[in-house]
Amino acid sequence: MAESNKIVNFHVTRYNPEKDVKPYIQTYKVEVTDGMTVLDGLHWIKEHLDPTLVWRYSCRMGICGSCGMLINGSPTLACNTQISHLGGMDITVGPLPNFEIIRDLVPDLASMFDKHASVKPNIIRDEADLVSRQGEFYQSPEQLEEFLQFTFCIKCGCCMAACPTLATDVRYLGPMPLTALQRYNTDTRDEGFDIRAKIAGGDGGAFSCHYAGECSRVCPKGVDPAKAIQLLKRKLVLDYLHLASKKQPCKKLEGPGHGKLLPNMNPPARTVVQDAPAETNK
Ligand code: SF4
Ligand code: SF4
Ligand code: FES
Repeated sequence: MAESNKIVNFHVTRYNPEKDVKPYIQTYKVEVTDGMTVLDGLHWIKEHLDPTLVWRYSCRMGICGSCGMLINGSPTLACNTQISHLGGMDITVGPLPNFEIIRDLVPDLASMFDKHASVKPNIIRDEADLVSRQGEFYQSPEQLEEFLQFTFCIKCGCCMAACPTLATDVRYLGPMPLTALQRYNTDTRDEGFDIRAKIAGGDGGAFSCHYAGECSRVCPKGVDPAKAIQLLKRKLVLDYLHLASKKQPCKKLEGPGHGKLLPNMNPPARTVVQDAPAETNK
């Protein structure tokens, strides 16, 4: 063992539903070197001590969202967590709460993805308008800024695991799907508010959120789902009272390179020829 190595106890949740009655803790002594992440520690265990340990990962760089785990009691990404930053000689590693366990550290995220799909996380527009339009749907940097933060979500499930409402009410959509819903509602290219309002305002929707803010505290990408949900609630209330301001429609641009320029590129060579049809009550 190199001189800078130290031994850290990994207390890991194990569970194989085919043979275990319930989850249990297994402790491994891991040789930790400088710069090692919790994900590296799990690999070390698999290579040196126990090839049967199972977890999910892919990118190793905080992008894919696969390695969400409960580390020292907090949902976070294993690949983004330095062992040295945790302090102490003991680390607990378990699967994300609020999900069924498939095996060991692998949660079943199907319920989250089903809820995500149910909020219609895509641009909704009139098909005929899409076909007849030849130009680009221009969106200003300011309009993009309104929802940009919410696009950084990597669907890791950490916010869902931290949410106390979800822990007691499985019908609750949860912070990740509701953030996605708000992201598309705010997009000037989208016209699906009325469809999503029924989902967001119904049972298990935004008004089930107690605004405890745990989701935002644990989010590894700075998405701030609690903020998204509060903005969504405000929009729903204002819409119900017919006090919501109209969404600024995106404009159609024509000219060389239409459809290729990014919104924050200077569009002087092109001409704004018409507004998209304004939405009502947005
Ligand atoms: S909002 Fe944050 S914590 Fe929740 S799924 Fe997205 S990236 Fe993960
Ligand atoms: S703010 Fe809402 S969604 Fe976020 S953890 Fe609290 S109850 Fe859950
Ligand atoms: S392995 Fe991809 S986010 Fe951790």
